[in-house]
Amino acid sequence: MDDKAQASGFKKGLTSYGDTGFSSFLRTAFIKGGGYSDDALSRPVIGVQNTASSYNPCHGNSTDLIAAVKRGIMLAGGLPMEFPTISIHESFAHPTSMYLRNLMAMDTEEMIRAQPMDAVVLIGGCDKTVPAQLMGAASAGLPAIQLVTGSMLTGSHQGQRVGACSDCRRFWGNYRGGEIDDAEINRVNDQLIASVGTCSVMGTASTMACVTEALGMSVPDGASPPAVTADRMRVAERSGAVAVAMVAKKLTPDKIMTPQAFENALRVLLAIGGSTNGIIHLTAIAGRLGIAIDMDAFDQMGRETPVLVDLKPSGKGYMEDFHHAGGLRSVLRELRPLLHLDALTATGRTLGEELDDGRPAFSQEIVKSRTAPVYAEGGIAVLHGNLAPGGAIIKQSAASKTLLEHEARAVVFENAEDLANRIDDPNLDVKADDILVLKSIGPIGAPGMPEAGYIPIPKKIARQGVKDMVRISDGRMSGTAMGTIVLHVTPESAIGGPLGVVRSGDRIKLSTKNRTLSLLISDAEMAQRLKTAGAAKKPTAERGYRKLFLENVTQADKGCDFQFLRPAKMTAVTPVPKAGPKRGAE
Ligand code: FES
Repeated sequence: MDDKAQASGFKKGLTSYGDTGFSSFLRTAFIKGGGYSDDALSRPVIGVQNTASSYNPCHGNSTDLIAAVKRGIMLAGGLPMEFPTISIHESFAHPTSMYLRNLMAMDTEEMIRAQPMDAVVLIGGCDKTVPAQLMGAASAGLPAIQLVTGSMLTGSHQGQRVGACSDCRRFWGNYRGGEIDDAEINRVNDQLIASVGTCSVMGTASTMACVTEALGMSVPDGASPPAVTADRMRVAERSGAVAVAMVAKKLTPDKIMTPQAFENALRVLLAIGGSTNGIIHLTAIAGRLGIAIDMDAFDQMGRETPVLVDLKPSGKGYMEDFHHAGGLRSVLRELRPLLHLDALTATGRTLGEELDDGRPAFSQEIVKSRTAPVYAEGGIAVLHGNLAPGGAIIKQSAASKTLLEHEARAVVFENAEDLANRIDDPNLDVKADDILVLKSIGPIGAPGMPEAGYIPIPKKIARQGVKDMVRISDGRMSGTAMGTIVLHVTPESAIGGPLGVVRSGDRIKLSTKNRTLSLLISDAEMAQRLKTAGAAKKPTAERGYRKLFLENVTQADKGCDFQFLRPAKMTAVTPVPKAGPKRGAE
């Protein structure tokens, strides 16, 4: 058992006993305890990451997916080795799933690195899972392919089609506004999640599924099949087979996730009306590979990339409609002139080759043409101003058109607790055209940057029939949410950002057209307030993961990754400057 043989399969990454021959001998003995033959053990070893959990119905089809992946691996001559990592579901993670994303990325990276495997199939779907897996895989540097669990089916409430979670929020808003009663909201609750799988609209999970396919990190047509369909199982089988082929091709994540591939993914993020979380996650994944995202150039892309996909929350349909409309392939076809077609995918072929070779286009209603889009610009706009020197974003495609240009009085909540205590107070001094401001829900402030940026409309305003107000915070919101909501204000208030000095009664101006977010006070007044506020009182922790998190998490403009997980310096930038490789031709 010489050292050279340790380069692959079970000979790889031997446990340290000070005697490599003995390490290999012992490992083989243990795995043979599982009944494996020498023939099986001589095959390329493909890790299969299992993120199933009773707490995670979004991954509730994992058993079937894993069986299909294993079938694909074995049909292609590999040996599947299933292994678990932690599982994070949006609704079962306290204080918020984002707090745990980097922990999952570390778990994924280290398990890929620690265990003998030649490639890995990453299986997951719920919002933070795919980003965590791609971050971990990017750092581990082994051939990797992502298999998403797929979207859930839609339900029906009194003849009306419903699905998580745009409709969750809509019905809850109606309930808060007194339009529906306790009995009806309970009946709706039964229908919103009609099966296992990820949220059925273009929320963060669906967004990440689409941008992963656009990145080239899944099989073609891997994003859209719903969780419980035969198509989803065939994608799983193919993912297993492709993983085996990736070993021979040495197709590591850095060869696929290039600056050009990230530009394609950013383009898709804009065109699908994707979740605002997508930009944080793509920043974090790219950051692992030393690629920085130029947010101003991203905003410029948004001005030339309309929203094409008519799904909630920006439009009308659900993920199963998107699948029936041809899935991401229909979007990529429409975007073709704007894409880097020479970007490599997990199959070893370029994006252009995969597009040339797919099912033919057909007439459908969900993916619109660039000449008749759902929304004229990309879904996300990037804002700057004295309130957000490091930037902020707004999902303009899911906002109220009448509020995109708005100047009004601020009604300020100091933190999430203050919000909970006062938002429904009948004596709260608030009017329908005020701007609600919530501080201290950033990466460090909350901590974990919870999806509390979707500030509820105060009850007394909701009861007037008001469905939307301008809301501003340093937090995030669910990809399934809609409204005129400014998020990711950077730097966050908890580390001394200007958001921290906004007072109730101040005037704020939002101009989405000009991409500005301004607190209407003089520079001198701003400087004075920041000086008086003194050093921000950052939350601290004495021990454990919370301490690790608070001391190392970066701001939204760096993807909220831990600083020590990022390379020492960024070596590339995306979107790729105009002088870069040519995009496809019409
Ligand atoms: Fe898991 Fe929405 S809660 S994808």
